[in-house]
Amino acid sequence: MSKLFIAGEVFHGAGSLAELKNIKGKKAFIVTGGNSMRKSGTLDRSIAFLEEAGLEIFVFDGVEEDPSSATSFRGAEAMRAFEPDWIVGLGGCSAIDAAKMMWVFYEYPDADFDALVKPFTVPTLRNKAKFIAIPSTSGTGTETTGLAVITDREKGVKYPIVSYELTPDIAIVDGEVCASMPAHITSNTGLDALTHCVEAYVSNIDDNYADVLSKGGLEIVFNNLKEAVNNPTNIQARQNMHDASFMAGLAFNNAWLGIVHSLSHQVGALYGIPHGAANAIFLPNVIRYNAKVSKRFPDLAKVIGKETAEELAQAIETLRGEVNNIASIKEFGISKADWDKNIDYITNNALLDPCTGFNPRVPVLQDLKDIYNACYEGVVFNG
Ligand SMILES: [Fe+2]
Repeated sequence: MSKLFIAGEVFHGAGSLAELKNIKGKKAFIVTGGNSMRKSGTLDRSIAFLEEAGLEIFVFDGVEEDPSSATSFRGAEAMRAFEPDWIVGLGGCSAIDAAKMMWVFYEYPDADFDALVKPFTVPTLRNKAKFIAIPSTSGTGTETTGLAVITDREKGVKYPIVSYELTPDIAIVDGEVCASMPAHITSNTGLDALTHCVEAYVSNIDDNYADVLSKGGLEIVFNNLKEAVNNPTNIQARQNMHDASFMAGLAFNNAWLGIVHSLSHQVGALYGIPHGAANAIFLPNVIRYNAKVSKRFPDLAKVIGKETAEELAQAIETLRGEVNNIASIKEFGISKADWDKNIDYITNNALLDPCTGFNPRVPVLQDLKDIYNACYEGVVFNG
């Protein structure tokens, strides 16, 4: 028996932000990032819709990229003062993931962050508030996943906090909300969604629902990412990418991911390489590595008119270039000396990452190190 974990209610399509008018409650605590939601007018429109629904509003803004646990504690403290019955994560995945962790510490002020890092240890939520996710980027699918990625800067580690408790009650997937997303973020996040489709499809959890969503998501990304990057005002392309991101998120919420994410989390935390950009560097070589044991790649390749795992890997490399993304770690400006100094540390952490357990091929430390080194140089890995 399997249960499909999905956001409680999903509103999608251009203009679906207006669904906030129909929320029933008393107080909404909006968590958002820097300035983009304010500048685009989305924050004000959200406030207006919620006020129309009769809710009192508090805005917690300024959540940084790759949010830390300290930000979650600060937000939770503000929540305890305001006592919301709705939490609204509005913006990129950083804002939404931080809001998810604030929610945990709002409901459980004494919860221990270090203990929550262990998968499926978040206690029962919704005693004080429910959660609305409104993404402004099309990549993580956090609006329908039980995942929040929190960074420990001192240790240089990104922790995926995993629990179905964190799956939002309401997801609003409105392509108009991401109309202001810059081209490089559209590219990075779109490649993250693509990675979710591939990793969920070949993971060691078989799930028919995830398979269909992964294939559908992959097709939409290949058909729309370039257009969304090149013509940012094309709302249909924006909505298509937003839908693909949700579908990919729903797929991996149920079939999970693999070592692309294990490798990517470490270089994100240590070097600040954007998540989707890092994924797109590792993904082709991890396809080659996994194809030695998984027979599922040809099926996935057919979705985009290709036949083999190698052709799929090459098509991803081509798309990555077409949306102006980098092809190696060294292109991010990391010296060989620095890389060599840190390689053992990040390889060890990648092996311990929760995503590693769902990879179709069981890696040993040396495998991950070899993939890392090939991707540092941007050369094909065939181990
Ligand atoms: Fe991801």
